[in-house]
Amino acid sequence: MIPYGAIISSYLVAAVLFILSLGGLSTQKTARRGNLYGIIGMALAVAATTMLILGKVQFPEGLGENFSGVLLNDPTTSSVFAVVIGLGALIGAILAARVGMTSMPELVAILHSFVGLAAVLVGISTYMGSGISVPVGGELVHNIEIYLDVFIGAITFTGSVLAFLKLRGSVSGKPLTLPGRHLLNLLMVGACIYLAFEFVTADGHTAVQPLLWMTLIACVIGFHMVAAIGGADMPVVVSMLNSYSGWAAAAAGFMLKNDLLIVTGALVGSSGAILSYIMCRAMNRSFVSVILGGFGTDGGGGSSTKDEDQGEVVTFDIEETVEAMRDATDIIIIPGYGMAVAQAQHSLSQVVDFLKEKGKTVRFGIHPVAGRLPGHMNVLLAEANVDYNLVLEMDELNDDFPATDLVLVIGANDIVNPDALEDPNSPIAGMPVLEVWKSEMVVVMKRSMGTGYAGVQNPLFFKDNTRMLFGDAKAVVDQLLTGLRSP
Ligand code: TAP
Repeated sequence: MIPYGAIISSYLVAAVLFILSLGGLSTQKTARRGNLYGIIGMALAVAATTMLILGKVQFPEGLGENFSGVLLNDPTTSSVFAVVIGLGALIGAILAARVGMTSMPELVAILHSFVGLAAVLVGISTYMGSGISVPVGGELVHNIEIYLDVFIGAITFTGSVLAFLKLRGSVSGKPLTLPGRHLLNLLMVGACIYLAFEFVTADGHTAVQPLLWMTLIACVIGFHMVAAIGGADMPVVVSMLNSYSGWAAAAAGFMLKNDLLIVTGALVGSSGAILSYIMCRAMNRSFVSVILGGFGTDGGGGSSTKDEDQGEVVTFDIEETVEAMRDATDIIIIPGYGMAVAQAQHSLSQVVDFLKEKGKTVRFGIHPVAGRLPGHMNVLLAEANVDYNLVLEMDELNDDFPATDLVLVIGANDIVNPDALEDPNSPIAGMPVLEVWKSEMVVVMKRSMGTGYAGVQNPLFFKDNTRMLFGDAKAVVDQLLTGLRSP
């Protein structure tokens, strides 16, 4: 038998490791270490909780009763528990090993939905069963904890499932803007508050019906909130749901009297909220409107708003691009989702090494929502051993374009779209972008005239100083490397 003190100490160590993990993840140099802290912390937390649930813990006098309902002392239930944990770990490992970097947001979204669903199921079963014994007088607080846990969990669950389907492209990315949708949200929240009153004032555990009605309404709120957001604003939704899943876990921690779950949930909830705030600033959206659901993209997010003829595009071939690179002294590279799809970062890193050897100034410009997940481009460039000092944020670089000879846009589209600044009717209006068109020449490498994630046409392609180099990013960059190396 393990003393209860050892379990509490493990929780404390795990909580500290989670904090160190978040700290480590804040810079590329320490990210690997941060991940390792997180893995060790989670392994410790799972091991300690398993011991607790399997009844292998020696409690001090009187404390064990708090856990009476969750202990699985009989061998059959313990085996079921072991099989379920084993299966979950196996499925998780297979999914994580198989997922492509470009599909990460989908995986993250569906994982958030599991957190939400778990919060709902545990909350309802805690209320209906006898999971946690509550001290006399603590019933009201306990019922509030259950209600909040189920409410946030249900919103997170349906919201995340819909975000998953939107990111996958299984349902349209267009925002659903029902007339009076804010009033509808308000009515639903009002109904949940009324049901909360019914729930907490009921005697014993007799208010199952209000709890189930609220669960249903909260599911609709979660669905409706995410349905109202679309197009280029989806990254903010994913980080917002990340935050919600943290708060759902924290509420479950209070409900289950599990300190580690409270700490972990609060860490996820607050870091998700900070990330949402940063992303809102990057997208020039209001944080409050995001939290309330539905903003920005009214009528857009799926189709081009500009059907009129935008003019002719001028194309470049490999030789012409190589020539332009040889002539330029100051070059900025803008990577986007297409570079990730083509996995062109390794060849690109060699091109950069070559150009630097020739004495040219080469820098990368990273947009906060380039690719499909926060930091997507930074991760790929780090993987290809690109010097961190060459990788600059949008704000650090935007003033430098007028003095730049050549900009190479590799598989990027929405993040270099001038309409975001110039066309107030564009679905991406107001989103800050990399102002590449202000440089002397821009070469855009992509396969076709196809649109990007937001589904809008890009006037950059038709500008006088823009040249289009069509082809798969990896194949094109490889050919550029060969061209540069040939005398
Ligand atoms: P996008 O606007 O999606 O444009 C990527 C472009 O890459 C496409 O127009 C595509 O054109 C091209 N492409 C695709 N495969 C290619 C390949 N193999 N070789 C060369 N080009 C290829 O990407 P972006 O500029 O990085 O902007 C990101 C967008 O995603 C934003 O709208 C953002 O809001 C959204 N988003 C971001 C995130 C996060 S957190 N970063 C999460 C979800 C959504 P062709 O088909 O013509 O080749």
